[in-house]
Amino acid sequence: MRVGTIFLFSLLPLLLSLPLSIAQLPPDTAMSSRTLDAILQDCAFKAFLRPKTGVPYDAQVPRNLTGIRVSAMRLRSGSLRTRGVERYEEFQIPIGVFEQPYVERLVLVYHNLGNWSEKFYPLPGYSYLAPVLGLMSYSGATLNASELPELDIRASDKPILIKFPHVKPAPSGSVPKCVYFDLQGSVQFDILSHGNVCSTVQQGHFSIVVESNAPSPAPAAVAVAADVGKGGTRNKHKVWIIVASFVGGCLLLIMLSLLIAKVRRTKQGMKIQQLEWAAESNETLHMASIGGTKAPLAVGTRTRPTIENDYVP
Ligand SMILES: *[C@@H]1O[C@H](CO)[C@@H](O)[C@H](O)[C@H]1NC(C)=O
Ligand SMILES: *[C@@H]1O[C@H](CO)[C@@H](O)[C@H](O)[C@H]1NC(C)=O
Ligand SMILES: *[C@@H]1O[C@H](CO)[C@@H](O)[C@H](O)[C@H]1NC(C)=O
Repeated sequence: MRVGTIFLFSLLPLLLSLPLSIAQLPPDTAMSSRTLDAILQDCAFKAFLRPKTGVPYDAQVPRNLTGIRVSAMRLRSGSLRTRGVERYEEFQIPIGVFEQPYVERLVLVYHNLGNWSEKFYPLPGYSYLAPVLGLMSYSGATLNASELPELDIRASDKPILIKFPHVKPAPSGSVPKCVYFDLQGSVQFDILSHGNVCSTVQQGHFSIVVESNAPSPAPAAVAVAADVGKGGTRNKHKVWIIVASFVGGCLLLIMLSLLIAKVRRTKQGMKIQQLEWAAESNETLHMASIGGTKAPLAVGTRTRPTIENDYVP
């Protein structure tokens, strides 16, 4: 009885962790926003043949990403620092923007996610009034390179401004906000300046949103939805699952060893009891083999069975 309970108890962490890992495994088939960044970097660099500095080049996107606009502009980092870029699509880059690590030439890649905005940057509880726009920076040293890491750019003097030309009107009573997605997958909100202008000191993705009237979904649903778009949280989830499984496995192991120890102790107790009993009874029992197992056999019977009612045919 006790052993059975312990056994069930030892299975509990395993049983608990099973549905958990199935329910929370991130959908690897869905493309993350970071994968998209890498694909768009590749497209953008392919747009360069003999690029002039400071001139934007429109890029071709894969056919299954139709609706996304990408372009690339190559710059000398010295020129970016001392002159900025007066206008690059919706972005206005002031003087004093530094890149880390230092490169002699860099490439700014512009994204306009258009009707793909909500797919790659789902934001439960909010609706977009403008497409998600991206500004990314890469080293311009090798133009045939793919899977390049981003540089880190910072505006040190004035912020970079993003002026959204076409913004859907906000529902009456709601206040439009700027939203900023950094490369690690975190989201920040900021006030929208007059003229539909948002500002930033870093690269990333930007848009304008309002809180939607629909009741905000349950936290679990939010977490899963946010997972689809962001590599960062997804990795955190994976780590969490691994930790949970590890702890569960450890618990299981401890429980199992306890169970084995318990069974051993019970067996030993039985053996000791048997020995004691044998010593007390002070007689050697004859062992007899019955169908392959040995069993003590008493010689002769002390009370002979008597047939009480003789059956006479
Ligand atoms: C687009 O097609 C490529 C293969 O050509 C595939 O790897 C990628 O996942 C597709 N993207 C989307 C968003 O379906
Ligand atoms: C966006 O629009 C294009 C056509 O302009 C379409 O091919 C594509 O599937 C749309 N994307 C989404 C996510 O609906
Ligand atoms: C890029 O081009 C250079 C020559 O311009 C070549 O040596 C190098 O192997 C190429 N790299 C890739 C990844 O294609």
